[in-house]
Amino acid sequence: MNTYETITARRSIRKFKSDPVPEDILQKILTAGTLAPSGKNRQPWRFIVVQGEKRLEMIRIMRDGIARTKKRGEDPGSSEWTTNVMEQAPVTVFILNPHGIHPWLAHSIDQNFDDLVNVQSVGAAIQNMLLVALELGLGSLWICDVFYAYEELLSWLGESCQMVAAVSFGYPDEAPAARSRKPVSEVARWI
Ligand SMILES: Cc1cc2nc3c(=O)[nH]c(=O)nc-3n(C[C@H](O)[C@H](O)[C@H](O)COP(=O)(O)O)c2cc1C
Repeated sequence: MNTYETITARRSIRKFKSDPVPEDILQKILTAGTLAPSGKNRQPWRFIVVQGEKRLEMIRIMRDGIARTKKRGEDPGSSEWTTNVMEQAPVTVFILNPHGIHPWLAHSIDQNFDDLVNVQSVGAAIQNMLLVALELGLGSLWICDVFYAYEELLSWLGESCQMVAAVSFGYPDEAPAARSRKPVSEVARWI
């Protein structure tokens, strides 16, 4: 597949087979992440790969965080559903921005701009990983529902910087149709 075909074929996958993902494939995916462009070539990404028995702990921590969210009377959104998807996936990678600060802390204007640059860079790294995963026969799900257990997961990961997202990977057990997109005419303005 050429790049455009890969971009067109990618889907969020929410049903995974339990087959493990070979280490060399994971290395290739992570390498693709590191090849993304980044502001000032800061490469503001750190990847933490969770697989094997550690997945069970991750799911328990995620559910604890969601329970805390619910106890505070807040809507857990789609996080419980997403946790079920993460539970099936053989691998989940957490993506952190080591320059970013905790979202609850006050941000200066400079910090906000730095975050804008760094989070764009991390997004590019994530998309690279998703596309290469597809080329290697894997499905993926980009996940921000981890924010419902933000503090719990960060502390479990032993980190204090900014968690940007998680991505679950595995061999797909579904082939969803393309989800709708707004046409270019609606989202682009030519001047
Ligand atoms: C930043 C970001 C966060 C997302 N978080 C979640 C999530 O927590 N749970 C989930 O099921 N899907 C999540 N998604 C997947 C989107 O729902 C999905 O990309 C969108 O519906 C379009 O579908 P497609 O990826 O198959 O084209 C996320 C996607 C992005 C880019």
